[in-house]
Amino acid sequence: MAKTNDEQFKNVISHAKEYGFVFQSSEIYDGLSAVYDYGQLGSELKNNIKTYWWKAMVQLHENIVGIDAAIFMHPKVWKASGHVDGFNDPMIDNKDSKKRYRADQLLEDKIARYEKDGKTDKAAKLQADMDAALTAEDLPRLKTLIEEHEIACPVSGTRNWTEVRQFNLMFSTQFGAMAEGSDEVYLRPETAQGIFVNFLNVQKSGRMKIPFGIAQIGKAFRNEVIARQFIMRMREFEQMEMQFFVRPGEDQKWFAYWKEARLKWHQALGTTPEKYRFHDHVKLAHYANAATDIEFEFPFGFKEVEGIHSRTDFDLSQHQEYSGKKMQYFDNDLNEDGKPYGNYIPYVIETSIGLDRMFLLTLINALEEEDLSTPEKTDSRTLLRLHPALAPIKVAIFPLTKKDGLPEKAREIMDQLKFDFNCVYEEKDAIGKRYRRMDAIGTPFCLTVDHQTLEDETVTIRHRDTMEQQRIEIKELHTIIESKVSWRNLLS
Ligand code: GAP
Repeated sequence: MAKTNDEQFKNVISHAKEYGFVFQSSEIYDGLSAVYDYGQLGSELKNNIKTYWWKAMVQLHENIVGIDAAIFMHPKVWKASGHVDGFNDPMIDNKDSKKRYRADQLLEDKIARYEKDGKTDKAAKLQADMDAALTAEDLPRLKTLIEEHEIACPVSGTRNWTEVRQFNLMFSTQFGAMAEGSDEVYLRPETAQGIFVNFLNVQKSGRMKIPFGIAQIGKAFRNEVIARQFIMRMREFEQMEMQFFVRPGEDQKWFAYWKEARLKWHQALGTTPEKYRFHDHVKLAHYANAATDIEFEFPFGFKEVEGIHSRTDFDLSQHQEYSGKKMQYFDNDLNEDGKPYGNYIPYVIETSIGLDRMFLLTLINALEEEDLSTPEKTDSRTLLRLHPALAPIKVAIFPLTKKDGLPEKAREIMDQLKFDFNCVYEEKDAIGKRYRRMDAIGTPFCLTVDHQTLEDETVTIRHRDTMEQQRIEIKELHTIIESKVSWRNLLS
């Protein structure tokens, strides 16, 4: 019987734990909510996703360079960026259960319930009322809407609510003595600001000419109040962001370019195209003149994986104002009138993807239960159909038995391959069982070393997706494996 979406998602979570992809943080202490650790295979898969992004964005673009900025930044950065004053969620507490909720989320859930019950007029009216209250930052109105629509706390079942208050999502910590006397710093809620404040450092030291980009992969922290759906919404997560600096007036052209380029990056992994869609923003943040989300169809619906934002000159202008340092670029290319474009603050197109969401998407996409039944026998296998370039382990090497010199021969082959491909050696269990375990973690190739290997320098190579087995010469192995796992397959 086909699995429901909920069952499918639970299956992904338990598979991730069973095979060492993702664990709850501090699990032996009952975990820390919305914080996760990546295990032995998870960290390999995560690294491979990072490499895919870095190669596509940095190494294959002559005009994009990468940096690795610190997590701690001067507190004024977050004042300038607007995060101190504006990075808030409207929260409401239930006085009986003491549980805290995002007010807009409670209303969204109610809208979804109205829609499910066919009350589309009510849903549309509530949506419009909520949007108006959020736009006007009218917190009392949000509470009135919660009361009018008789929304009860899912835990206590009561409607005994506090006032709605703004709750800043940034984590703060103490930082020794700061010059200004304040010792409070924030853990960065996005990696983007590390790029903006280094704009001139990179431009000057790298002699970069506009248009050019600066990319970065790194941790970000948000004290999310609603943290659920596994690694979808975490309090500590990783972003892969790129800011592309362009001439004012050329921003829309580059926005369209990056929209297309980023979707292409996702689709090169072989995902069914219908699983992706753009969600163009109608309501724009005050600093943006265009924005879109790349959404993926998770088992719990279409959700954002990546944002592409045309951020105007907002960030650099803000940093110029707050730091008192010029954030301008001198463009000596000639314009239509034959004069240099001169000094200006560049406009910025941002591409921002959550690494953990990309990881979750990759697992969900790849995990399948393949029916191998024949008229004689029911059978199935768990298969992680990862793109070979992303697979945590590329080659598993099995001696058929633990004796007769087969382990030694298998290790000799591994020694030839391990510098270029991540390999594992396994001699426990029957070969069939070893194959199935490798299928479940997405290993594209298994090599079996048997007595014939000792005589003629051949091995059996077994392909994960087709389960086809071939006898090939050891000297051919490198070429065959390379042809499948090469980054070229994804990037060219
Ligand atoms: N610099 C722009 C920025 O940070 P964002 O839409 O807030 O934009 C970008 O975040 C991406 O980061 C999202 O598309 C999502 O993939 C990821 N992301 C944001 N919050 C997250 C969280 N709490 N847990 C996991 N990923 C998150």
